[in-house]
Amino acid sequence: MKLDAFERYPLTFGPTPIEFLPRLSAALGGKVEIYAKREDCNSGLAMGGNKLRKLEYIVPDAIQAGADTLVSIGGVQSNHTRMVAATAAKLGMKCVVVQESWVPHHDAVYDRVGNILMTRLMGADSRLVDEGFDIGIRQSWENAIQSVWDAGGVPYAIPAGASVHKFGGLGYVAFAQEVAEQEKELGFTFDYIIVCVVTGSTQAGMIVGFADQDRAHRVIGIDASATPEQTRTQVRQIVDNTASLVELGRPVREDEIVILEDYAYPAYGVPSDETNDAIRLAAQTEAMITDPVYEGKSMQGLIDLTKKGFFPEGSKVLYVHLGGTPAINGYSYYYRNG
Ligand SMILES: Cc1ncc(COP(=O)(O)O)c(C=O)c1O
Repeated sequence: MKLDAFERYPLTFGPTPIEFLPRLSAALGGKVEIYAKREDCNSGLAMGGNKLRKLEYIVPDAIQAGADTLVSIGGVQSNHTRMVAATAAKLGMKCVVVQESWVPHHDAVYDRVGNILMTRLMGADSRLVDEGFDIGIRQSWENAIQSVWDAGGVPYAIPAGASVHKFGGLGYVAFAQEVAEQEKELGFTFDYIIVCVVTGSTQAGMIVGFADQDRAHRVIGIDASATPEQTRTQVRQIVDNTASLVELGRPVREDEIVILEDYAYPAYGVPSDETNDAIRLAAQTEAMITDPVYEGKSMQGLIDLTKKGFFPEGSKVLYVHLGGTPAINGYSYYYRNG
C-alpha cells in the first residue's frame, strides 16, 4: 500500500492509547476481553475525536489550494464542525459552518452548549439552517461556499463528516496500521473491532487498512444514522476510492463491509432506553463517557453482541471510541438522575 505518498499535517498527539476495560468485561459476563482505543483522547484541539485523523490528510490540500476559509456542514451538535472550526483556528484560517436541524431533539440549551458552544468560541461563523438529516450534499452548503467567494475569500469545502472528500478515508487506513503496530507490543491481536458508522469514512478507511491485513470482515460497523442503505452505499464508495488511492491491489469484497443496523433506533441523534443504559454502564464501570448520538449506540451494540454470544469465548474485542462526548451537554434532561 502507498499511504506514505500522501502528505499529512499533524493535528493529533500521535498513536492513541489502547486500554483494557476489566470492569466492563466482567459486567458483560467475563467471557470476552474488551479493550478501548481512545480516539476521543487524540488531540489537544478542542477535545479531539475521529475527524482530526481525517483532516490531517485534507489540510495539505486546503493549504495548497490557497484557501483562507474552511467551509463545512453538520447538525446543530456536530462534532465534525467543531473539529473543522478547531483546525481553522489552529491554521489561522477563517471558518464557515452550516448547522442543520438533523436531530428531532428539543432541549432548552441544545443550540448553546457542547459542540456548538466550542465552535462559536473558536471564531467560526456558525449558521443555523432549518433542514432535516441527510448525509449527502446539501444546497445550504453550496450557498455557504458561494457566500465566501462573494465576500472575496477563497473557500475550501469539506463535506459532512469529511467523508466524501477524496482524501477522507486515508486517516483510518493509517489507524489500521497503528493498531497492527500496537498489537506487536501487546503480544496479541484483536479478534473484532467495533466502530460507529454514519457518514462512512471512518469505517471505510479501516476496512481498506484492515483488508491489507486480511481481516476487514472483523471490523463491525454499528450504524447510528438510521438510514443504513445510504450509509452502506457511501461506505462502499469511499472504500473503492480509498483502495484505489492507496493501491490496495485488490477489490474489497462485499462480505468485508459489515454494518449492523439494529441499534440506530428510534432516529439519528435520539437515544433509545437501551442506548442510555449502555451509556450508564460504560460510565459506571470504566468512567468512559459516551454520547447519545454515536458512541452510545456503538456501546449498545457492543454490549448486546457480547451478551448474545456473537463473539466466541476468549475473544479480544477492540471498541473504538471515536469521541463526541461534548454533545451529551445537549441531552441533560435524560441524565438528570444519572
Ligand atoms: C463521535 C463520532 N462517532 C462516530 C462518527 C461516525 O463516523 P463517520 O461519520 O466517519 O461514519 C462521528 C461522525 O459522524 C462522530 O462524530
